[in-house]
Amino acid sequence: LKEEKVKLTFVLYDGKRIETEAKVGDTLLDVVVNNNLNIEGYGACEGTLTCSTCHVILKQEDFDRLPEEASDEERDMLDLAYGLTDTSRLGCQITMTKDLDGLEVQVPETINDARS
Ligand code: FES
Repeated sequence: LKEEKVKLTFVLYDGKRIETEAKVGDTLLDVVVNNNLNIEGYGACEGTLTCSTCHVILKQEDFDRLPEEASDEERDMLDLAYGLTDTSRLGCQITMTKDLDGLEVQVPETINDARS
């Protein structure tokens, strides 16, 4: 069976765009790790919901169509993220689906590792 792939773009604070492919079912953090994307400090806690360094900002329409809303644990951790917005999520908690093909997320400038 051929793996289903979708397109995903990370836009860094300096405007640099990282266009990549994601496997359906992978989280944004998986995509960063598996593709060796060079995003400094991203995903420090490896998806265990203890750091908030995987903070991404979505466009409103994308935020609204995410299949899952943030859990209480995710919300608590997001509160510690630098530059929190109404359309912020944690990348380790967003799972790519076919519908999310072409998703574009912004990575905020300063990453705040809640563990430090
Ligand atoms: Fe640490 Fe997502 S990678 S909270």
